[in-house]
Amino acid sequence: MEDRFGHRISYLRVSITDRCNERCTYCMPQELQEWLPRVGILSFEETLRLVGIAALLGVKKVRVTGGEPLTRRGVLQFVQALAQIAGLDDIGISTNGTLLAREIAPRKSMAVALREAGVRTVNISLDTLNRDDYHAITGRDYLIEVLRGIDCAVQAGFELIKLNCVLVRGRAEDQLKPLIDFAAEKKLLLRFIELMPVSTSDVLSDSNFLPVREAQRQIEAHYGSLMPEPQFRTNGPATYYQLPGRTQRIGFIGAMTNLHFCESCNKLRLTCDGKLRPCLGSYLEFDIMKVMRAGASDAELERFFLDVVERKPQQHDFRENYQPGRKMVAIGG
Ligand code: 5AD
Ligand code: SF4
Repeated sequence: MEDRFGHRISYLRVSITDRCNERCTYCMPQELQEWLPRVGILSFEETLRLVGIAALLGVKKVRVTGGEPLTRRGVLQFVQALAQIAGLDDIGISTNGTLLAREIAPRKSMAVALREAGVRTVNISLDTLNRDDYHAITGRDYLIEVLRGIDCAVQAGFELIKLNCVLVRGRAEDQLKPLIDFAAEKKLLLRFIELMPVSTSDVLSDSNFLPVREAQRQIEAHYGSLMPEPQFRTNGPATYYQLPGRTQRIGFIGAMTNLHFCESCNKLRLTCDGKLRPCLGSYLEFDIMKVMRAGASDAELERFFLDVVERKPQQHDFRENYQPGRKMVAIGG
């Protein structure tokens, strides 16, 4: 699958639920949540059928997201089934980490079970190592669980574990150094992400926005000049740097300020309510659940995928006064 601008689509992010056990201020509104009704969510069978079609069309990597994907019952069986799909060679999961340490069988953590089911990489959200701040950001006092979850993930032997920190001014600055040192100690790949307008909450203000450049300057004040590593890439849009005198590298996702951000985009998103989204930062979305439930054949669904990719925009609209129409928690990041 290739779009009009030469983006080759090989990466599908699959959101399996809009529900979450946390309430991050930048991701969902604080008021009472109206979750989507069960019938409005793709069943695992439906999701697997769509992923199978995407794999036939060249998707090689799937990342399972939410909401919090580990809150959905049956997620392990789902991941096992994903791993059987021919053509997929990489399965990742994005999680808030709160449930990774949960014992799902005697002496077996969720993290180990995911690894055994075929998950190769895990992204864990971690904005702070301060318990009070963690509570303030996520609405929950789960930092201890997350840290245990990270240890379980390390023990589980994933090929890559990334920590994601969203940059918010006034809060992130004093956490840059503790997070970098924590990542170094645990040998994890830390990335800093610019705040994007993908929620309907009031955290998304200019005064809260902390550009990647500025975070980098603050990091350099502590550690010395960051050394760019343009040749090092994971599957996404992060750019990586080496810290001087260390083997540690850190990544930056500058969705707002990096004008070349979209050039290497290889992604498509499937939301938990069955919409294909060609771009996180665009209102465009196409209801593939509806056509599938109306009885579409595999060939028709393939056509649908190709049509969506054909309409993938050249760039996201975040810089053009994009107003979030949909909460991040229901898209899957
Ligand atoms: N801006 C940037 N990143 C966000 N995430 C959630 N909401 C936002 C936002 N408004 C990130 C989380 C998590 C991933 C799934 O998306 O930190 O790591
Ligand atoms: Fe939940 Fe992740 Fe959103 Fe936080 S960022 S509310 S953990 S889905």
